[in-house]
Amino acid sequence: MRILKAVNVIKSYKRDNQLIEVLKGIDMEIHERDFVSIMGPSGVGKSTLLHILGLLDVPSEGELIFRDRQAPTDEEERAKLRNEHIGFVFQQHYLLPEFTALENTAIPCLIGNMPEEKAYERAKACLEMVGLSHRIHHRPGELSGGEQQRVALARAIVKDPDILIADEPTGNLDKETGLKIAALLKELNEERGLAVVIATHDEEIANLANKRYRMRDGKLYPATNPLSS
Ligand SMILES: Nc1ncnc2c1ncn2[C@@H]1O[C@H](COP(=O)(O)OP(=O)(O)OP(=O)(O)O)[C@@H](O)[C@H]1O
Ligand SMILES: [Mg+2]
Repeated sequence: MRILKAVNVIKSYKRDNQLIEVLKGIDMEIHERDFVSIMGPSGVGKSTLLHILGLLDVPSEGELIFRDRQAPTDEEERAKLRNEHIGFVFQQHYLLPEFTALENTAIPCLIGNMPEEKAYERAKACLEMVGLSHRIHHRPGELSGGEQQRVALARAIVKDPDILIADEPTGNLDKETGLKIAALLKELNEERGLAVVIATHDEEIANLANKRYRMRDGKLYPATNPLSS
């Protein structure tokens, strides 16, 4: 089943009174169980695209279809869809320093007014999934970079999203720790059917995906296409 479809998505920004087209017509589909990677040089528009796919931003032109209908442009409606269906991890973990791993993970549920007991139960299960059962009462400052990113990942999946948008989630980690996080994404994808879209500069991580793309000049090319490399 299809989750997302981008149809000729164009995104432009105004800078110094000039309109700069970052995305120049992106067509792509993301289906359930997909693991999609996007590589490409810095500044090419990977984050811009992920923000649009994740309903954090809207295209300047073109269409974004979520499930079977056009994604809303109204911020409030987009936020609602986002909260219910989309998980995010970024290069930075954005964990709240005063709260424990368990509390940080439970926050999306608590904001959604889930009863506390259930929220913490879910958070605990997700921390277990990312291999952090032994660290649930630690605060971010008491965790390693890789562990912090695992908490961010647990928080991203705590509401059981349809799709996880990961924007350079290993960008701040050493190679080995980064690969472990990526392997965890792969596991969630394979074992739980979570659709994943990841932007990365790491070829090895990109190659874990079953659909690999490269961005160039505001367009997306299959990574296997020799013309795009
Ligand atoms: N809000 C904005 N206003 C103006 N220009 C922007 C805005 N957001 C992004 N851009 C520009 O769009 C281009 C693409 O940025 P984007 O962050 O999508 O690149 P990226 O591929 O994710 O790069 P990196 O690999 O460094 O993360 C850049 O030239 C950037 O300066
Ligand atoms: Mg980026």
